[in-house]
Amino acid sequence: MQNGLKKNLNFYLFSNQNYFTYNLFNKIYSLLKLNKKIKNQLINKYQANGFVKSRQVKSEDLAEIKIILQNSKKIKKKNLIEYEINDELRLKIKKLFIQYFLDDIKHFENYFSSNIFVTHVKISTNIGFKTNNEDKVQYYSENYHTDNYIFTYFKLFVNLEDVGDDKGPLHFVPTNNQKKFIKLSNYKNRYLYDENNIDHLIYKNVGKEGDSIFVNTTENLHKAGIPDIGKSRTVIRFELNAIPSNKSKNDLFNYENKEKNIYNDEYWSKIYAKPKGILNTILLLVNFLKKIR
Ligand SMILES: [Fe+2]
Repeated sequence: MQNGLKKNLNFYLFSNQNYFTYNLFNKIYSLLKLNKKIKNQLINKYQANGFVKSRQVKSEDLAEIKIILQNSKKIKKKNLIEYEINDELRLKIKKLFIQYFLDDIKHFENYFSSNIFVTHVKISTNIGFKTNNEDKVQYYSENYHTDNYIFTYFKLFVNLEDVGDDKGPLHFVPTNNQKKFIKLSNYKNRYLYDENNIDHLIYKNVGKEGDSIFVNTTENLHKAGIPDIGKSRTVIRFELNAIPSNKSKNDLFNYENKEKNIYNDEYWSKIYAKPKGILNTILLLVNFLKKIR
């Protein structure tokens, strides 16, 4: 199929800009394994909107993490700071995740009929800058896009500070608004769309320190807002993966001690959610479907 035609068909059928093969993967997995009739508020909201707010982490539980972060090694990029997650920080983050989100993860496991694992953890600060719309450069995914992964990959964000409009909150297109958004913005790709008449279709994740949100970033369009000049936003991001072929139960951090580290890069997220080419996508699908939980 020609690229342009494929893209149009993709928009028409799936209302997102993810790969056609990944959307097909999602459809098949969805038909055969997804527990759509689940009666749980968290999952129902996630299913209906593509996002759901979760528990608020207490400031006292974030305080230790924030102190360690101040003294952590920082990787400074343009308009972005990433933090090295040392052993001390790993323990705290893991404890926090299990304390606050284990129950939610159980519901997601039910939904995906699969064990779920943390495949990457990242802490970063987005820094405000003056935009130039001509630029085809992205510092922290600040243009509307979907993450090109299969939908068994999703994210949890935890605010490390209060987030108002001035701090560039996450902008997210809820499922029911996607078609309208694509039409009104004349969306073609992350560099080609019109942002003028779409504000009413966007959910902006403003909120308090400790607020958390699960997001379907592979099927719903979203972007990082850009903080005002002199402002910034720091968040913890957990990348989560339903991996039916991994039978380790109650071992969310199963991948932390493998040779590739979940705190360093997206290696495991990519292995389980970003297959290369049609053949590998089919192989992964078969591998996922043959294992009954
Ligand atoms: Fe994204």
